[in-house]
Amino acid sequence: QESTVPGELGEPALKGSELAEPGAVTIVVPTFNESANIRELLHRITESVPTRLPCEVVFVDDSTDDTPEVISEAARDCPFPVTVLHREEPVGGLGGAVVEGMRRASSDWIVVMDGDLQHPPSLVPELVGTGERAHAGLVVASRYIKGGSREGLAGGYRIAVSRGATWLTKGLFPRRLRGISDPMSGFFAIRRSAVTAEALKPLGYKILLELAVRSRPHTITEVPFVFQDRFAGESKSTAREGFRFLRHLLGLRTASPVARMLVFGLIGATGFLPNLVGLWALTRTGMHYVPAEILANQLGVAWNFLLIEHLLFRDRRMHRNWWDRAGRFALLANADLVLRIPLIALFVHKFGMGALTATALALVTTFVLRFVGTEALVYLP
Ligand code: GDD
Ligand code: MN
Repeated sequence: QESTVPGELGEPALKGSELAEPGAVTIVVPTFNESANIRELLHRITESVPTRLPCEVVFVDDSTDDTPEVISEAARDCPFPVTVLHREEPVGGLGGAVVEGMRRASSDWIVVMDGDLQHPPSLVPELVGTGERAHAGLVVASRYIKGGSREGLAGGYRIAVSRGATWLTKGLFPRRLRGISDPMSGFFAIRRSAVTAEALKPLGYKILLELAVRSRPHTITEVPFVFQDRFAGESKSTAREGFRFLRHLLGLRTASPVARMLVFGLIGATGFLPNLVGLWALTRTGMHYVPAEILANQLGVAWNFLLIEHLLFRDRRMHRNWWDRAGRFALLANADLVLRIPLIALFVHKFGMGALTATALALVTTFVLRFVGTEALVYLP
């Protein structure tokens, strides 16, 4: 049994092969309190994989129960190498665990599968074989093509949520997910050479989505599979995981500066609401509308700051402390207002623009300046 050494994780991973045979596979299994499933899982892998492919299994475990001990115990009867990596600091949840497992993989192919037997181990050789024949970088085990199904997704509610999430995700990434009918699947084979571990920012359950969007494996194929019932225990997914998924989507979608600027603008537009409410409340107390608007504007600024911190720059907050970020953000937002009037005057008097054009242009200019300024002065080192 090993544990993680933080420094090792930043290495240029996925190099140097021990399981050197072509077509060999490293099966990466994330586990969170799955002790009752381990023996059966290793038994079924033993039955169907090593006679057809050289293999090893890497468990990445975030459990609070005795799962790591159960794995070490069960590993003694296995005819292939089994590694347990227990994380004391489970960064990134399921997806973070899978990426750490991939860094430890030593063969040409990596298969990722759940530890609760909802993913049939008997399909592992077929996933790899299909990938080899198609010269593919990624082979997805799909519930949504002919021959596949989702028996194990109990209840109309979970099926509807799964369908909705798939539809939304495919709509957001039509190009990157072309050819993937089931981007929510947690069962797939990927060539080790196709994994750009350094570029990944895993966040929760949807590690296949993360890989498809950020690593962009060249050729993608699919194999149908039947999503089984859990062998033992219960799903570890929660409502919190649902929110994490939405944040993951937003993070993937705002990887480009243009997309980030768009979301920055959308969030900014919602700031009008607290601003107006504040203005209404303050003028009702009898305050003059000029100081009232100056104060109410700060309400909008605060609202924008909170949303932008949590939605857009969540993973870039480490360079400054909270007060520093809040102060800089507020300064930029107010500079935006102060700058607007002289800018309009400049456009009108120096360039002879009409008042409306000048105002619109000033708005756009200060908005872009504010976005660039916020990125550079608040969220960059
Ligand atoms: N290391 C680690 N850390 N493992 C985790 C964590 C975590 O934080 N959370 C869950 N796991 C492990 C579980 O122990 C299990 O082996 C596997 O990840 C899947 O977790 P489940 O809780 O069983 O997920 P599910 O059945 O609800 O969802 C599965 O099917 C979905 C499709 O409907 C997953 O494969 C999803 O990725 C997939 O979208
Ligand atoms: Mn499961």
